[in-house]
Amino acid sequence: MQATTKIILDLDTGIDDALALAYALGSPELELIGVTATYGNVLVDTGVRNDLALLELFGASEVPVFAGEPHALAKDNFEVLEISEFIHGRNGIGEVEVPDAQRAVEAQSAVDFLIESVRTYGDELIIVPTGAMTNIAAAMQRSPEFAQHARIVFMGGALTVPGNVSPWAEANINQDPEAADFMVRNGADVTMIGLDVTLQTLLTTAETQQWRALGTKAGEFLADATDYYIRAYETTAPHLGGCGLHDPLAVGVAVDPTLVSLLPMHLKVDTEGATRGRTIGNEEKIGAPNPNARVAVAVDTQRFLTEFMDRVGRVARGFDAQA
Ligand code: BDR
Ligand code: CA
Repeated sequence: MQATTKIILDLDTGIDDALALAYALGSPELELIGVTATYGNVLVDTGVRNDLALLELFGASEVPVFAGEPHALAKDNFEVLEISEFIHGRNGIGEVEVPDAQRAVEAQSAVDFLIESVRTYGDELIIVPTGAMTNIAAAMQRSPEFAQHARIVFMGGALTVPGNVSPWAEANINQDPEAADFMVRNGADVTMIGLDVTLQTLLTTAETQQWRALGTKAGEFLADATDYYIRAYETTAPHLGGCGLHDPLAVGVAVDPTLVSLLPMHLKVDTEGATRGRTIGNEEKIGAPNPNARVAVAVDTQRFLTEFMDRVGRVARGFDAQA
């Protein structure tokens, strides 16, 4: 039997988060041990609802879901940005209706689950945050052992290209720059999958049509939600010619780091002034040994897209087909 890597997804579910979930479930190398909910594309409560509903739709009702911190470390509330609603829809999944799941969220908090999981599994576990980094920073602040042992592959940031919510800031970092800064400075093993590479991995309706043609509920959902996302990109970034597969690429790298070229460095996030939310090298540690972070600066686009269609396709063919 193939050895599996345990994985936790920390999602703000979100259409590309949903695709990341499908990618993880369709990857035989991965065992999804839990989904923790963060905020960004949606509020935490909506994220929890979507996670439970999509896990059921994808035939993975056994995977537990944990509610995370509802807002940034330095704030006491959070409201979804207009641009996020435009891209993902008010319900986060492109206004596609998916029935509520038959089960409820776990009683344990996301932060406690993250800490406990790293304690239990150590480096057999990879954590993939694809929304605001608040849960991860909170876990690091509460448990130095977590910061020391957690292996993190996060979607967020932009090193060599502009941001997508401001000229400097990418959306996930922008939600909570203090949390992201804490994470990249204090995590012992942090990999950044930012816009540098995720905007090179694009999907079009030619691919979503393949899912729709399967005639399954999962395939229909994946096609309809992703088409909504593609239409939003036609307005916000028409030059790209497709939608960015941000969050699935982070899961792809968790399975196979050779999909990207990684630049080792000491990272930081600007938390003040016009560049608030920018991911950049830490000027106090230029040339310092043993960088704790790696930033993806190139991607094997074709190989990733093949892996993506293969893995998400397994989930899209899914459980209607087996019934
Ligand atoms: C990131 O922001 C969210 O809208 C997406 O789900 C992705 O995680 C892209 O900047
Ligand atoms: Ca996301």
